Amino acid sequence: GPFLPDDPGSRTDLKALREAAAGCRGCPLYANATRTVFGEGAAHGRVVLVGEQPGDQEDRRGRPFVGPAGRLLDRALEEAGIARGDVYVTNAVKHFKYKRTAGGKRRIHQTPNVGEMRACRPWLAAELRAVEPDVVVALGATAGKALLGPAFRVGERRGELIPMPDPDALGTPAAAREAEAAGRAGDRDAGWNGALLLATVHPSAVLRADDRDAMYAGLVGDLEVAAAALG
Ligand code: URA
Repeated sequence: GPFLPDDPGSRTDLKALREAAAGCRGCPLYANATRTVFGEGAAHGRVVLVGEQPGDQEDRRGRPFVGPAGRLLDRALEEAGIARGDVYVTNAVKHFKYKRTAGGKRRIHQTPNVGEMRACRPWLAAELRAVEPDVVVALGATAGKALLGPAFRVGERRGELIPMPDPDALGTPAAAREAEAAGRAGDRDAGWNGALLLATVHPSAVLRADDRDAMYAGLVGDLEVAAAALG
């Protein structure tokens, strides 16, 4: 079809990756979004945070997690003792997917589908190879599925340290099975580069929750587990 995923190839330089991703037409989402929102932050940070996709404000400003969810995330990171200077922030999908309200005024977020996640995965894999983090935090279900495959259920595994799959195998069922089996066996060194993955709730889900305080405390608690794993 016309939407072949662009190939980040063997590039491991974040600046070169960002420039290449700016012109990505690997899936149809580029057509309605303002721009590619690539990851940013500490180029060799010990922590990589993976969200779902840019929101309305991120799409306008070209930077990940700068809207309401980003402000909540910043606060949670600080409470958990994770320094922003130690963090690279990105998304599983790098274009904003939305539909307009009836009047056309507001842009309502739509969850990316598996094809869009698959098309965008080479960029995420390349970012991970470039940054080489010690801990990868999946924020929400989409990030969890992008990293560990479509069967991953964040509700069942949140707050657990799981060996990080090799970026080459991201999102494959085999990688997920292997990582989860090693996680259950307590084999913390089994991951790619010895890295660990932890899934938690998405900050936007905290903002929408009825019991916002409890959900926020849960997010901070999970981030504290990630912080402790850094040593
Ligand atoms: N939600 C996300 O998942 N990512 C962003 O960058 C902003 C909001």
